[in-house]
Amino acid sequence: MFLKKIILENYRNYTQQSVEFKTNINLFIGKNAQGKTNLLEAICYLSTGTTFRHNKDVDLINWNNNFFRISCELIKKDLNREINIELYYDRQGNKQIKINGVKYRKISDLFGFLQTVTFSPDDLAIIKDGPSERRKYIDLEICQLVGGYYNILINYNKILKQRNALLKDIKRKNQSPESLDVWDEQLIKYGSLIIKNRVEFLKKVVPVARKNHEEITYGKEKINIKYNSSIICKQDFDIDEISKQFKEIIVKNRREDIFKNMTLYGPHRDDLVFYLNDKDLKIYGSQGQQRTAILALKLAEIKLFQSQNGEYPILLFDDVMSELDDYRRDFLIKVIKDNEIQTFITGANMELVDSIKQKIEVFRVEGGIINGSGGE
Ligand SMILES: Nc1ncnc2c1ncn2[C@@H]1O[C@H](COP(=O)(O)OP(=O)(O)OP(=O)(O)O)[C@@H](O)[C@H]1O
Ligand SMILES: [Mg+2]
Repeated sequence: MFLKKIILENYRNYTQQSVEFKTNINLFIGKNAQGKTNLLEAICYLSTGTTFRHNKDVDLINWNNNFFRISCELIKKDLNREINIELYYDRQGNKQIKINGVKYRKISDLFGFLQTVTFSPDDLAIIKDGPSERRKYIDLEICQLVGGYYNILINYNKILKQRNALLKDIKRKNQSPESLDVWDEQLIKYGSLIIKNRVEFLKKVVPVARKNHEEITYGKEKINIKYNSSIICKQDFDIDEISKQFKEIIVKNRREDIFKNMTLYGPHRDDLVFYLNDKDLKIYGSQGQQRTAILALKLAEIKLFQSQNGEYPILLFDDVMSELDDYRRDFLIKVIKDNEIQTFITGANMELVDSIKQKIEVFRVEGGIINGSGGE
């Protein structure tokens, strides 16, 4: 996949900027607060309709303007032509998505065109923060890989909200608990699909992540990631078994749900647990070990995208290069070079250029303006 060009209009600190990229490594160098992360964020936004900084759409509009528009030209191997993606958002809340000039209504329509894997310092939150951060991470990755998964999530969350409201009514207004039946059925249907997809994702990605990790740590350390579910105990259940198990738990705990006014079991309560040499990485891992685990995981994702789509996604590495030691950095660059993966890297100083030791395209970012220097 090759992102040829991006145009930013009133996006964050960019007012009008058009940049043409190169295949392979594009490096963006600039002092702090110049627009490096904003550029990567715009690429991520064109890919998933959300940003890795999890800001609201309105925050992305340039402070002095009333709308933003970003667009890109993308070349994919399978479609022998350019794809144009355009996103518009204004302060009145109007949002417009256009793909090759055709208007789309839903963010889910974006998935599958521009695929990205991001690695930023904030990714440590996947290990360090609470379960919701890990669920957000795995769900977004699956959204990019599995058509329809975004809608499954939306439906599940809608039903969960309605079921929780009904649980309150049952307790307060003495409504019949049987009114839950229809919601339970839907909750189980969509919830089981979420669990199935998450388990499948891990099944594919974890063995590759383990291999990467062993290589990065000279075989000294082994990671593992397990799906910790409130519904299933085994990782190899099929969808019917998951649904059956989910149903049993929902029926058994209906009283408790009513008493506590909320749905206590389901994928919205599930978590991923990271292990390093069989110890919980969140509790015992050093910052470097946690970062290495994330790196191994992201590299495994790249392979998964490739095996599923026949081509590599685009990589967005924000400010992480300087935090990796030489061996890890060289490992990463080798993967990028060997597989000719288009990669966007940001950094604050030119030392990074030397440390990469490869032919790269260097861009300078200053006050919301990007200039290609054509450096090596
Ligand atoms: N909606 C907005 N309108 C205008 N400027 C904004 C908006 N949102 C953020 N900015 C500004 O954009 C500037 C660049 O931010 P960005 O995060 O891209 O910096 P950076 O180059 O990655 O810096 P660092 O090296 O510190 O990470 C910041 O000064 C920030 O305050
Ligand atoms: Mg930044």
